[in-house]
Amino acid sequence: MKPIQKITIVGGCGHVGLPLGIVLAAKAGLRVDLLDIDPAKVEQVNSGKMPFMEHNADASLREVVGKSLKATLDPACLKDADVVITVVGTPVDRHLNPTVGQVYHSIDALLEHMQDGALLVLRSTVYPGVTRLVYERLRKLKKNVLLAFCPERIAEGNAIEELVKLPQIVSAFDGEAMAAACQLFGKIAPTIIELTPPEAELAKLFTNAWRYANFAISNQFYMLAQSRGLDFYRIHDAVTREYPRMRSFAKAGFAAGPCLLKDTLQLAAFSQNNFFLGHAAMLINEGLPMFLVEQLRRHDLANKRVAILGMAFKAESDDQRDSLSYKLKKLLEVLCTDPYVPDRALVPLETAIRSADIVIVGAPHAVYRDIEIPEGKIVVDPWNFLPARELASATA
Ligand SMILES: NC(=O)c1ccc[n+]([C@@H]2O[C@H](COP(=O)([O-])OP(=O)(O)OC[C@H]3O[C@@H](n4cnc5c(N)ncnc54)[C@H](O)[C@@H]3O)[C@@H](O)[C@H]2O)c1
Repeated sequence: MKPIQKITIVGGCGHVGLPLGIVLAAKAGLRVDLLDIDPAKVEQVNSGKMPFMEHNADASLREVVGKSLKATLDPACLKDADVVITVVGTPVDRHLNPTVGQVYHSIDALLEHMQDGALLVLRSTVYPGVTRLVYERLRKLKKNVLLAFCPERIAEGNAIEELVKLPQIVSAFDGEAMAAACQLFGKIAPTIIELTPPEAELAKLFTNAWRYANFAISNQFYMLAQSRGLDFYRIHDAVTREYPRMRSFAKAGFAAGPCLLKDTLQLAAFSQNNFFLGHAAMLINEGLPMFLVEQLRRHDLANKRVAILGMAFKAESDDQRDSLSYKLKKLLEVLCTDPYVPDRALVPLETAIRSADIVIVGAPHAVYRDIEIPEGKIVVDPWNFLPARELASATA
């Protein structure tokens, strides 16, 4: 393949596409077009503003936007691209089945514009077998385009740092495509790990399902201890302190967001619903909001005002997609607050704390670390995030 100079990222203004585009432009010196269908995001990116929170991204975006990077709605930008990376969403449907439509059906439209010999990289998290389907489609259409599947493994919010630190898994069905994908990611990643596409597809799903199951273990132990009036975190501290074999024992808390659950469900569908561990993890993690509510019933819940601090799906994020704080909100009559999430229904932090009898930490944003919650209020902090105080936990 000839040297790579120009990249188009499809889904380029999203949480994966935009940081990747910035890093490819800023660190690899490539020309990058971010193709998207959302005009508001395209406009915002071109004006040098990130459409979502991403650590250290604003300055990097301003460095490259209008120079080597631009966002666009026009698919003509595919024509002169040496590499097209597609990273559109791969949600599960309302029956919790994987959907491959957004990725698979968009391929023909991309191929229409792509030049001969270009590399097409699938970067969305895909259901196992999708890379093979796309490969066969290329052959059927007799299209001279190389194909690779190179999954994204960053933690949302830390992409700018992690893209240049994490090893990159690269996979392809033939040597030429593998070499081209290695050439591309060799420009930013310190290490390249080569797999076959079926291996790489499972590697990505294993990564997310493993994390999700780990959080489920902690959440299950949390519920087990708290429901017996025991403080989970005294036990967590005892078993992790100076004891290396428990180092990976996560804290409890809402395990949510757009990836972990849906990728666990993709794996469950792939195993023909014999992935019992994955389904158990889903029941546990999705059940935590209900557990907290049940624990609070002893406090005459019907006559108490509840506030949720943090509506994003995780700390230091404005992303509310699939956040369990919203599930908790549905179960209770509540005041909700978050410094980052754009939601008109939210109230200021001071109002939430002043008005509430019960305060629940939904997302442990650092700004909550030093808040003062007046004595007498019931505090529920499944993350054990708030500074040591006499916590009136859910079991109090
Ligand atoms: N969010 C993460 O932290 C993360 C991490 C690793 C992998 N992933 C995977 O990456 C993929 C994308 O996730 P995301 O969080 O970036 O989603 P996102 O919704 O933030 O971004 C997707 C973008 O694609 C655009 N889009 C949709 N259809 C399009 C089309 N036909 N043409 C051009 N643009 C289109 C949307 O407008 C949006 O800007 C998913 O498969 C996800 O599982 C996400």
